[in-house]
Amino acid sequence: MVAPDDARSAAPVIPNDLSSFWMPFTANRQFKSAPRMLVAAKDMHYTTHDGRTVLDGTAGLWCVNAGHGRPRIVKAIQDQAAQMDYAPAFQMGHPKAFETATRIADLTPPGMNRIFFANSGSEAVDSALKIALCYQRARGQGARTRLIGRERGYHGVGFGGISVGGIVKNRMYFGTLLAGVDHIRHTHDLAHNAFSRCEPAHGAELADDLERLVTLHDASTIAAVIVEPVAGSTGVLIPPVGYLKRLREICDRHGILLIFDEVITGFGRLGMPFAAQRFDVVPDMITMAKGITNGTVPMGAVACRQEIYDTIVEGSPDDAIELFHGYTYSAHPLACAAALATLEVYREEDLFGRAAGLESYFADALHGLKDARHVIDVRTIGLVGGIELEPIPGKPTKRAFDAFLKAYDRGVLIRTTGDIIALSPPLIIDKSQIDRIAETLRDILNAD
Ligand SMILES: Cc1ncc(COP(=O)(O)O)c(C=O)c1O
Repeated sequence: MVAPDDARSAAPVIPNDLSSFWMPFTANRQFKSAPRMLVAAKDMHYTTHDGRTVLDGTAGLWCVNAGHGRPRIVKAIQDQAAQMDYAPAFQMGHPKAFETATRIADLTPPGMNRIFFANSGSEAVDSALKIALCYQRARGQGARTRLIGRERGYHGVGFGGISVGGIVKNRMYFGTLLAGVDHIRHTHDLAHNAFSRCEPAHGAELADDLERLVTLHDASTIAAVIVEPVAGSTGVLIPPVGYLKRLREICDRHGILLIFDEVITGFGRLGMPFAAQRFDVVPDMITMAKGITNGTVPMGAVACRQEIYDTIVEGSPDDAIELFHGYTYSAHPLACAAALATLEVYREEDLFGRAAGLESYFADALHGLKDARHVIDVRTIGLVGGIELEPIPGKPTKRAFDAFLKAYDRGVLIRTTGDIIALSPPLIIDKSQIDRIAETLRDILNAD
């Protein structure tokens, strides 16, 4: 397979041998028998190896919030690579690391102003879990070693993340995982909440499941609870009205840290910088990645309440390293340059406000699919949508995956998880592009 002549100048020649690359979270054999190769991207579109244009309904993997190929971000990365390619972050610093942390802290809820850098969502999650354990120990509560996640949660693929995560396939092959982890129930309830817009009405009381675990384990053994405010990877599960507030209250009552995993919901996806602001609930830590650099350079981060930092840092001897954790590429100069430029683009173009302004149009378009064939639920918030399909009997996931393949053939990139179609377009999408996504899905589903 080679690129067509007109695309060749912009794109690398496509290799004939696809065997060496072991593709992540991919049906390798299926892909390699019929590759879907992307070679260029600009604004709302990808270009495929065979010169087709594909409308990006998923912001890459929920990360390209400002759209593709933004000149300001590209230039910032190029300039930084030329000026200083790398600098260590252990016992050394570079200016953009501090500036990036300050800019991120400007966007987080007040007081969440200490920023630890990682290189992905998975690393951000594992960093947050470790910080939680350190904090509890530093404040004299070292018996608090349990970590609580939620069923259907996705927190990346590190051992910490899959342990607190609640996706069976991500856990079952990998041994005993972290010890001392438990899970509260998920909130997905089609019987009561199907076809809800924004937060579904029923289910705030599911937060009380944390009280059950407190009764079982005792609060004195629990360090932290981690949840996605809106679960993305398991199919856009929006929290019931009042659920997150109740979870916050229970954590406060028992001295348990609350971590919001905002790897997907951060940077405008819900029309606000973070879901914490959208739901008016301030956690103790926020994990983030993806949109932080508009997907251009890998970067993750944890925003912590200042008291967490102070407790760990001031509890250590002077001149000693306080937190025995970090990555070679924490606060990588290229990632910082990309993040600073990205945050400028978000601000200058008011992209979070744009997402808020498009929310109801997006919701109308997706909820208009209610009567399309096989649709058993539509749920939307901000510029995220989930369309749940009735599975083909005996062939779970096939209906949605077939829709993904057909949409790609028709020039629209969607994402599927189980039998759920998840949509999360760049925040620069316009109304006609929203219509195109909805119409393409309607055609595909009704033709099935
Ligand atoms: C909520 C959440 N946490 C963590 C991750 C893991 O991020 P990464 O793939 O960058 O490690 C993801 C990825 O989709 C995510 O959605």
